[in-house]
Amino acid sequence: MPIKYVPFVPEPIEGQAVLGNFNRILKYKGSGDVSATLQRGMPLYEMEKQETVGENADGNMVIRGECISACAYLKEQGVQVDLVYIDPPFASGADYAKKVYIRRNPKLAETIAQAEQELDIEELKAFEEKMYGDVWDKEKYLNWMYENLMAIKSVMSETASIYVHLDWHICHYIKILLDEIFGEQNFRNEIVWSYTGGVAPKRDFSKKHDVIYRYVNSDNFIYNPVYEEYSETTIKRYDKIDENGRKYKVTYFEGRENRSYMKEGKELDDVWVISKSSDQSLDAAFSYATQKPERLLSYILQASSNKDMLVADFFGGSGVTAAVANKLGRRFIHCDIGLNSIQTARDRLAADGAEFDVLEIKDGVQLYRNPVQTMDKIKSLIPGLKNDDSLDSFWEGAISDSKFGTVPVYVPNLMDSSSKLLDKVMMNRIIHQAIPELDNDIKKVIVYYIDITDENELRQFIKEDDSTTIEIELRDLKTVLDDVIIGDYAEFHTEETYDTLFGGYAVTIDKFISDRVLSKINEFNQKAFLIPSSKKTYKPIRISEEGLELIEFLSADCTSGNGEWHSDAEIKIDPKGYVIADGNKTKEFWDGCIRCEKKPIRIKVRNICGDETIWSVK
Ligand SMILES: C[S@@+](CC[C@H](N)C(=O)[O-])C[C@H]1O[C@@H](n2cnc3c(N)ncnc32)[C@H](O)[C@@H]1O
Repeated sequence: MPIKYVPFVPEPIEGQAVLGNFNRILKYKGSGDVSATLQRGMPLYEMEKQETVGENADGNMVIRGECISACAYLKEQGVQVDLVYIDPPFASGADYAKKVYIRRNPKLAETIAQAEQELDIEELKAFEEKMYGDVWDKEKYLNWMYENLMAIKSVMSETASIYVHLDWHICHYIKILLDEIFGEQNFRNEIVWSYTGGVAPKRDFSKKHDVIYRYVNSDNFIYNPVYEEYSETTIKRYDKIDENGRKYKVTYFEGRENRSYMKEGKELDDVWVISKSSDQSLDAAFSYATQKPERLLSYILQASSNKDMLVADFFGGSGVTAAVANKLGRRFIHCDIGLNSIQTARDRLAADGAEFDVLEIKDGVQLYRNPVQTMDKIKSLIPGLKNDDSLDSFWEGAISDSKFGTVPVYVPNLMDSSSKLLDKVMMNRIIHQAIPELDNDIKKVIVYYIDITDENELRQFIKEDDSTTIEIELRDLKTVLDDVIIGDYAEFHTEETYDTLFGGYAVTIDKFISDRVLSKINEFNQKAFLIPSSKKTYKPIRISEEGLELIEFLSADCTSGNGEWHSDAEIKIDPKGYVIADGNKTKEFWDGCIRCEKKPIRIKVRNICGDETIWSVK
């Protein structure tokens, strides 16, 4: 008999996952909200086609939008996918950013090279565009992943597999969600992707691997063994050739000679050693923070899909899954919420000769390059909105109003899909939880929304609820965002060329001004001045009169004057200023000119931060 029973820690600490002993359902704070969201369903929005690259007879898609809304669209269209790979943000606390490169102009190269040299101080390396935030608390992350995984499952075919790429930050929690959603019996592998690199910590073992969980949707799944190429040394061991030309080596057992034939390669197990950069076929022109090597994806696609099958990546990033799918003769769907991802994937796929549609989900939040930037801007966009430390963090801040005094303002978090929709559940929370906690002298609050179930119904709901006398004003956030889209400015001329090599037309950009990029550079220069450097005085980055170094991509549409974009010629300028024309690298320096066979009707310019502006060609 034990002397006594020592109690377990009785209550889980906040945020700790608990396994219910009997039903093995992961419970965590806020998980009740998920069931409400799941009951409501996936939000379906209008989809707008932006561009068709090539003929696209296979219906490949590059979708800008959230995973859940993309799944709603696919489900509505009756599209089922055969293989899913996702590499979602990891809740790692990191903020990923796109490096912004000024495309050198010969006249400026020297100044910029010097400025870059002096950008040694860590803080100054921040000439970057924030792409997506990765900062969540665990509960929010798990709720969010749950919804996303449920959405993905609803578009997977019966024979489909899913690979979920994670790391030590959160993989153990997500494994339990995956068991719950796909069934423990459908868990097939925990793949370890082992890599080198990184900084060795002082008091821990170095972290050198990610984890990829492989689940199938039913027992009727696809699996093809994959063979890794043999190393040179192994190949050398197979030094004999038989009468049919097959390579073999000789081994001896109990004095007898045995032939062992060389196979296709070494059959892959669940530990994949792939260097992070070794087989990255990408150069800086197509680079993307967190991009994964093509070899990793090629293993997954070979193992769990066959030719012509549909492969989807709903957190597509650099477009690696789509690129590998295209190379291996699979159809593809690339989805991502960020504009930089869509542009990188689009350019990468176009350069590879892939054919696809570029689609955009019109959910009203795609006005900036990504939700992180939109959230960063929101405070400055709402007139009069200021921080107010006396308010709970539920409120974004407050506006001072001559009639009402302090007016707290609620703004939905664009990174949290569950708060984007203003419905009765949210309104209930505002009326019964958030408002009662406000000071007594508050007479009015403002509630911004991105999306609303039914405005009249909600106003009626507020009216009928007599638990508060505080006025609740509803405002559409989209109208605020709409006002701030400022296009870039370009002067250009077109001429017919009689060049034997490039017969046709040439459009030359004579001047390009992007106020948004210029103000970013100014900010950067100012910051650089303020940070003491051990090196010589900081020479600010200056942009030439013509402004060509602010251009990353230029395309000419010679087919259509409006609507969907048709790229008849395109130029991507690599970070060093060299031209990649229609996907082909050249040794030509960017000179502001694009050539096309037919007469151009309009041109599209993308600046180095990713904003695109279209002009008609007269
Ligand atoms: C870790 S990265 C993926 C990198 C990718 N596997 C590659 O190799 O390039 C995660 C991506 O998820 C995207 N993302 C974040 N939230 C999203 C959402 N709700 N729906 C779709 N994409 C999202 C981010 O913009 C980012 O590109």
